[in-house]
Amino acid sequence: MLAIGCDHGGFELKQVLIDHLKARGVEVKDFGCYSADSVDYPTIAEPVCNAIVGGECEKGILICGTGIGMSLAANKVKGIRAACCENSFSARMSREHNNAHILCLGARVTGPSVAMDMVDAFLDTEFAGGRHANRVNLITEIENK
Ligand code: RB5
Repeated sequence: MLAIGCDHGGFELKQVLIDHLKARGVEVKDFGCYSADSVDYPTIAEPVCNAIVGGECEKGILICGTGIGMSLAANKVKGIRAACCENSFSARMSREHNNAHILCLGARVTGPSVAMDMVDAFLDTEFAGGRHANRVNLITEIENK
């Protein structure tokens, strides 16, 4: 199960990505928002992160205007690694090197076709482990201090 959420800035792109994910056969849980009315992005980021930390969902996608606010909020949740990306290479590396749980996208930065490509890269890439596992563990050590 994949968790998805957005604020008003990401609402339209979220609908595009839900359709894309469903066409791929991915099960999606939509944490809102459900209209283009203004909403504060941390209130959406937190339940998406909790669904991942709690094991209900494996990965997530968070969308706001830039992807920045969502990533800042998501990375405050213990155990979450959220990557704000603007291209497919970064989306792929966020999985391969950083074992990111969440891809954060900026709907005012990234168009729908590029965003779909980034989602595919994110979902199709496994964590490489090895030396990268050691580095990710060091991030967790910082979090646990
Ligand atoms: C909302 O206007 C905007 O600030 C938000 O979508 C996001 O870009 C914040 O990082």
